[in-house]
Amino acid sequence: MRKKQNIHKAVIPAAGLGTRFLPVTKSMPKEMLPIIDKPVIHYVVEEAVKSGIDDIIIITGRGKRAIEDYFDAAPELEMRLKDQHNDTTLNRLREIADFPTIHYVRQKEPNGLGDAILRAENHIGNEPFAVLLGDDIITNSKPCTAQLMTVYSRFTSSVISIEHVPREKVCSYGIIKGNAIEPDLVRVEDIVEKPEPDKAPSDMGAVGRYIFVPEIFDCLKNTNRGVGNEIQLTDAIKLLLKDHPVYAYQFEGKRYDTGDKLGYIETIIDFALRDPHLNKAMMEYLQKRICS
Ligand code: UTP
Repeated sequence: MRKKQNIHKAVIPAAGLGTRFLPVTKSMPKEMLPIIDKPVIHYVVEEAVKSGIDDIIIITGRGKRAIEDYFDAAPELEMRLKDQHNDTTLNRLREIADFPTIHYVRQKEPNGLGDAILRAENHIGNEPFAVLLGDDIITNSKPCTAQLMTVYSRFTSSVISIEHVPREKVCSYGIIKGNAIEPDLVRVEDIVEKPEPDKAPSDMGAVGRYIFVPEIFDCLKNTNRGVGNEIQLTDAIKLLLKDHPVYAYQFEGKRYDTGDKLGYIETIIDFALRDPHLNKAMMEYLQKRICS
């Protein structure tokens, strides 16, 4: 059995083309789309840090430099805000500077999520690690990644976050087949990438958080191009399943798929509604719109 190791490294893939958001993603990473005043990827990094991750590697690509600039220090801005005694904004900037050092590696071509994760192999080495997709925000008092870590520490095995998805949408997800061993925990038998609704083994879709044992890297290397001519993480998980147990956990929390236009709009509305400075005006506006 694998020796139990603390998970302190995370991979955040953010090298996709974001075609659903063209033309804005021609010159701007979709992971940098603003949720009011912070980009999506800020919340993803924050979740990792709150889960105890102290070593983050972001997979970037062409046109993604804005991500590195965002997490860099900004001494000129800090100086200006200090001169203006604008402590509130200064503290918000410092919050970003206080994130642990973030490493970057480029995926030369967007060959799929599986290929993006494989780019992190040298950095991760021979230890278990977390993966957080750069365009999925999950809110909960106990972060989703920390919930997966708890499951990992029980079984010392890979864990996939899952949620029920509407039948007509199973064709957008990796869908899990397996036996529930507890109400929110499934021992995975198989996973199918983007099945047709009538061929889907369940309605449990894999969403943007994972814990993997390092053997996933060999599986990724042995994975051929699949759906969409991309190296699919789902296909590598299928290989992993041959020799290693994999669990799927129905996490607590709300997931926002900001890579989808409607999901993005819902995220902004919900975040505005829970912002004490915006809540009242936002409610009034929504009520006015619904009634007009
Ligand atoms: P998506 O499939 O949602 O991203 O990948 P995409 O391909 O950019 O989206 P569309 O369909 O063209 O709009 C989920 C995450 O995996 C990353 C993306 O950046 C996103 O954060 N990804 C995807 C990579 O890093 N590399 C890839 O080759 C593909």
